[in-house]
Amino acid sequence: MKLGTLLSLGAALAAATVASAQPAVTLTIQADQPGAKISPTMWGIFFEDVNYGADGGLYPERVKNRSFEFPDPLMGWRIGGTGGTARIVTVRDDTPPGSNNRHYLRITSDGGGRVSLSNEGFFGMGVERGAKFTFSVQARSADGTRPELAFEVVSADGKQLAGGTVKGFSPEWKHFEKTITANATDPEARLNLLVTGKGTLDLDLVSLYPKKTFKNHGLRPDMAQMLADLKPGFMRFPGGCIVEGHWLTNRYQWKTTIGPVAERKLIMNRWNDEFKHRPSPDYFQSFGLGFFEFFQLCEDIGAEPLPILNCGMACQFNSGELCPLDQLDPYIQDALDLIEFANGPTTSTWGAKRAAMGHPRPFNMKLLGIGNEQWLQQYIERYAAFAKVLKAKHPEIKLVSSAGPGPGDDKFHFAWPKLRELHADIVDEHCYARPDWFLNNATRYDRYDRNGPKVFMGEYAAQSDKTVSVLNRNNWECALAEAAYMTGLERNADVVVMASYAPLFGQVEGWQWRPNLIWCDSLRSYGTPNYYVQQLFSRNRGDRVLPVQLGGALPTEQEHPRFYATAARDENAGEIILKVVNASARPVEASLNLSGVTKPGRKATATLLTGALADENSFESPKKVAPVTTPLSVTAPQFDYAFKPYSMTVLRVPVAR
Ligand code: AHR
Repeated sequence: MKLGTLLSLGAALAAATVASAQPAVTLTIQADQPGAKISPTMWGIFFEDVNYGADGGLYPERVKNRSFEFPDPLMGWRIGGTGGTARIVTVRDDTPPGSNNRHYLRITSDGGGRVSLSNEGFFGMGVERGAKFTFSVQARSADGTRPELAFEVVSADGKQLAGGTVKGFSPEWKHFEKTITANATDPEARLNLLVTGKGTLDLDLVSLYPKKTFKNHGLRPDMAQMLADLKPGFMRFPGGCIVEGHWLTNRYQWKTTIGPVAERKLIMNRWNDEFKHRPSPDYFQSFGLGFFEFFQLCEDIGAEPLPILNCGMACQFNSGELCPLDQLDPYIQDALDLIEFANGPTTSTWGAKRAAMGHPRPFNMKLLGIGNEQWLQQYIERYAAFAKVLKAKHPEIKLVSSAGPGPGDDKFHFAWPKLRELHADIVDEHCYARPDWFLNNATRYDRYDRNGPKVFMGEYAAQSDKTVSVLNRNNWECALAEAAYMTGLERNADVVVMASYAPLFGQVEGWQWRPNLIWCDSLRSYGTPNYYVQQLFSRNRGDRVLPVQLGGALPTEQEHPRFYATAARDENAGEIILKVVNASARPVEASLNLSGVTKPGRKATATLLTGALADENSFESPKKVAPVTTPLSVTAPQFDYAFKPYSMTVLRVPVAR
């Protein structure tokens, strides 16, 4: 290797990158031999309402159990009062304002004192100084009396942060709305309703909703922005096990999640009984974030929508209840109607519903998942029934099928040949395993059949602890292993067309599963090291794979190399993108050769993501492990580069076209 083939711009950078000894590794990128196309959907996200990802998370309603649907005990509310003698607070379901969510609250008082109702929110209500909220309620005074209703947002220590009054009740249900501004910040505020005066007051749909939302489309800005910043190629939604439900009665049914929010039928969340660190049977789905909002979010962040539908099977980890094959029609009809809802003209039944919700243009859905994480013959039969109808009526839609919960178990080996026989479009593989699995399986797809179905690595995460999910950490060791594995996904872009980490969000006070890509509390969110790995792949995707040959003394462990590389070409930018993961403890000095390039552009960049294996990000230190980009001058197609121990590096080198 000639000295002088590496030039770096700044002294500091030079110190970091110039190889101090003879390069041990050679890395040749065949820049003139572009291979497989990398699908624009290659790197995406998977949203499931687990860990308070939706209610209490991305869907920023602050009031828990706003429509009193979970009455026994009354979830989220504390009832109290001062003075007076007789007051009764009951939950009723006789003459509600809507038909799907029948419960409402009746307060009857002799007027001698004050009734107070306090809502705790989701682990407290996050309010920020200066933030505006809409307080709203449906109310009536059924007996024509004139009780008074005041409301206040109070801090955890009881100081009033905002408030107002609502007047003018009539015997008919009426919607009342006030805008308020918080005068201080508190992550654990609550909402109090204070009723005075004699008579009866009925309340329903008590809401405290922030005015500021992502693109004014109703979602929490910081969390949605975290998703947008990933530049995801697709978004898979709404799950996950919640698609399936414990039983078919609490499966996810998309039709009950659209239209007026008040009419969306609430259910208990499939994850309700899986709290790992706090007993709290209070996890429900309001569907305020429903299918329309999912499609809208996909559009807002530039991701292809990938809805997943129940295929007539409840969660096989739970009841495994089956819809008999000869009764599947309504499930298949749901799929046909969903395609019409997403793509149909405004003159069609379901297209008209989309238009009525404010989106006359189609959402242009191209992908649809049949079942979540299902397995064995019962799944294959149901998938086949769906595919027969959908392929005949909508050949333009690519169907995603399931290979089960593991990447190589009996269920997996049962599914693949059957799905191949059925000419499945895309098969969804899942894997939660120790970091070693990911490091050792970076070549997994090198051996896949090039002519069969494509692969969607739909759920994966390295787990720091083998058995106890409570201990799973989002540390750099896990993220680095995922990065190594992802080089293998990209290198095999002719087979793997989609991939997404799982799960996406975790609320620090109320999770059922970990690790998660993004952690949040009532006001803040931060990306894990795993998030930044995903982001580096996604934002440096490229369009065509370039072959890479690795040679020399690669670092190894237990006979497995611990040095991984993949390269791609970004046609638009006219750049070669090289991603290298050095999962070993030693720096690797490499001699790089951009074969077929005569003159690289000088203005290359190097982005480094590194840390100690145990490093994690946190609210206090959200960027402890985060990428840092520096300029790099590359003046010749051969140059040296030193890859740091335990690092992921992305080099972008402009090349003449
Ligand atoms: O991502 C968490 C869960 O893992 C998903 O809900 C399910 O599909 C898988 O078992």
